[in-house]
Amino acid sequence: MMALDTGLGREGARTSAAAVRMATAVSRCSHLELAGFYTHEGQFYGHSLEQHASKVASMVDFLCAVRAEIDPSLPLWPGCSVTARHLTTISRGKIQAVRPGSYVFGDLSLSVRTKVMGFDEVALQVLATVVDKPEPGLALIDAGSKTFSSDRTPENYSAIAADGRDVKVVRVNEEHGYLRGNDVDALQIGERVAFVPAHVCTVVNLTDSVVVTAESRVVDRWRVDARGRVQ
Ligand SMILES: Cc1ncc(COP(=O)(O)O)c(C=O)c1O
Repeated sequence: MMALDTGLGREGARTSAAAVRMATAVSRCSHLELAGFYTHEGQFYGHSLEQHASKVASMVDFLCAVRAEIDPSLPLWPGCSVTARHLTTISRGKIQAVRPGSYVFGDLSLSVRTKVMGFDEVALQVLATVVDKPEPGLALIDAGSKTFSSDRTPENYSAIAADGRDVKVVRVNEEHGYLRGNDVDALQIGERVAFVPAHVCTVVNLTDSVVVTAESRVVDRWRVDARGRVQ
């Protein structure tokens, strides 16, 4: 698959001309065959909801134009949880697959930031323990960058309390999270608090397994198969 850059500023051909050059180079290699085009339109995390439909339409126009110049029979595979719904409705028939990832569990980016899902619909939480209250207005938990990763919301939170209390993880060391917010002083040392992370993909990748609950009861434990497979 050939990567196309549709505005994230990451990898991939940024213009039709660049894509055509790459496709021509591929066609000259006997051991290579172009199978289609993909993009990760992660820039949509920064677009407001009202902009999504029109910007998805422009992105699909670009993808279709590139495909038309190279080979109209090849598939288009965009991929991002923010655009998936629009792509499967307004762009039906033009694209052949959507590849959303973080929607599986959801996180602050998909709920609070982009409103793609409700905060209550986020399925993954990190259960941490309050381990210290070193000064008024500050509490520490036993989950830091080894749990939440370094990814943050634009407001600089690694996570916020899942139960609606004003408790936010505002800074992380490897094994400590720093909590601030109006409800921090009421926390007790030893108390367990569930957090919704800023970015779920990195959180799952950092853990060996996830505990599955239904109606507050543990019903299963899933091993994370991709754990430690970064090479
Ligand atoms: C190449 C690629 N495709 C798909 C995705 C899935 O995106 P999302 O997590 O927004 O669904 C990502 C996420 O980083 C990605 O890098």
